[in-house]
Amino acid sequence: MFESISVGGTKAAVLVLGHFQGQGLDRAARALDTGRVAAAALRRGEATGELGRMVEAFPKGRFRRVLIVGLGKEAKFTTEALRTAAAAVGRRLATTKEASAQFEVAGACGAAGIDPHRAGRAAGEALGLLGWVCDQFKGKGGEPPKRTALRVSSSSDEFEAGMERGLAVARSANLARTLSETPPNIATPGWMAEQARAMAKQAGLRCEVMQGERLVKERFEGLINVGKASENKPCMIRLEWPGEGKKAEPLVLIGKTMTYDTGGLSLKVNNGMVGMKRDKDGGCAVLAAMHAIATVVRPRRRVVALLAAAENSVSDEAYRPDDVLRYRNGVTVEVTNTDAEGRLVLADALCWACEVENPAAVIDLATLTGGVVTALGSTFAGMFCEDDGLRARVEAASADSGERVWRLPMHQEYRDMMKSPVADIVNSNPNRKAHPIQGAAFLSYFVRENIPWCHLDIAGVHASESDSGPFVKGPTGWGARLLASLVAAYE
Ligand code: BES
Ligand code: MN
Ligand code: ZN
Repeated sequence: MFESISVGGTKAAVLVLGHFQGQGLDRAARALDTGRVAAAALRRGEATGELGRMVEAFPKGRFRRVLIVGLGKEAKFTTEALRTAAAAVGRRLATTKEASAQFEVAGACGAAGIDPHRAGRAAGEALGLLGWVCDQFKGKGGEPPKRTALRVSSSSDEFEAGMERGLAVARSANLARTLSETPPNIATPGWMAEQARAMAKQAGLRCEVMQGERLVKERFEGLINVGKASENKPCMIRLEWPGEGKKAEPLVLIGKTMTYDTGGLSLKVNNGMVGMKRDKDGGCAVLAAMHAIATVVRPRRRVVALLAAAENSVSDEAYRPDDVLRYRNGVTVEVTNTDAEGRLVLADALCWACEVENPAAVIDLATLTGGVVTALGSTFAGMFCEDDGLRARVEAASADSGERVWRLPMHQEYRDMMKSPVADIVNSNPNRKAHPIQGAAFLSYFVRENIPWCHLDIAGVHASESDSGPFVKGPTGWGARLLASLVAAYE
């Protein structure tokens, strides 16, 4: 959408103001409204103040153009509403091809109880997310798009500093989106490992890739079996932000990184396979969160990331329904469906996290079930977390980032549903009941008791079907910003 976005400078071409539904301009905005052109524009019928509604005025003075964006009802105003409004402004700026905009919405935000730094962050995130472009897969068969470089500023230093931070976090989230977009003939598990290595080197993270014989040595039973049928071999990617003290228990972030999910021998049918290049989006979000942690958040606490990367393919060497897998924590699994593969590779990472990392808490992100899309659509991610303390932190990070989570239940009856007549548990109960909960119940067999653990099923939220808010149709990078917020607030 933009060639680039930078912060600062003076003499912007466009002045951006905001107003709430049923209200005029705030005092600071009125002071900037030379010739009262903005106030006059707000008397036009179209100026409803609805969230994201845009009204324009053309003053004679310092600015070439004034954009007045509707902020919705003041009582309902949140940072998420501000992201929507800022994205609407961004879309308009991209259309007008104006190169610089001065945001003077801190007054309106302050009236609604949002301080200038938080407001600036939300605006910066929205513009940064909106600006994401991925055209490396375009060829010579079309017109190259024309884009303008955008400069944004504000008379409020705090708002500007917030925008700077918001843009930086969005840059990290956009990394996840570009990885998600990369097609499966390029983005193999090995390629994901290379990307992780390169990012780690650049950002100052440790990176280790476990593959081949090492997977056997570590008894990563899920990765070995799920990845068997593909010539693109599986791997476990481990990243570490050292923080200040080696001793403190780290936060462990785990991502399902299925570079393609054909379903395996339980093959996906009726076009169910299309889009499964995005079955790596849990891992992409975790990788992007680590980038934000290393470049923006820089927390004192240690953070470890584990990306369980494999391609679920078909061949005579594929793992099969009826196979029994024995995990490193001693739990055995009867494979009933090779399309329930995500939980099998996540189990390796959960075992490792609990046995090796001595974690303060474990959070996993996975495009795990179609059932969560049926239940929650694309509005909320499904959250499973039985630890009250960790759940409160995840909910706070969700409110801060605008990435919504909704708690789903856990109960011993669901865990019993996973029992197998042959092994300890099955990877899927064919009774067609509560699939997202079955997934979480399965995973719970690989998490040590007393370790706070949160599972986020992101199958409904990792991609957007249309241009909406700060997103264009395609990957959203869901989770990168939530995890960055979570780590920032974790002492
Ligand atoms: N990757 C899929 C889940 C998925 C579905 C993600 C749609 C994004 C959009 C996962 O591996 C899968 O195939 N899940 C099965 C599980 C079932 C076989 C128990 C599902 O949900 O149908
Ligand atoms: Mn699957
Ligand atoms: Zn999958």
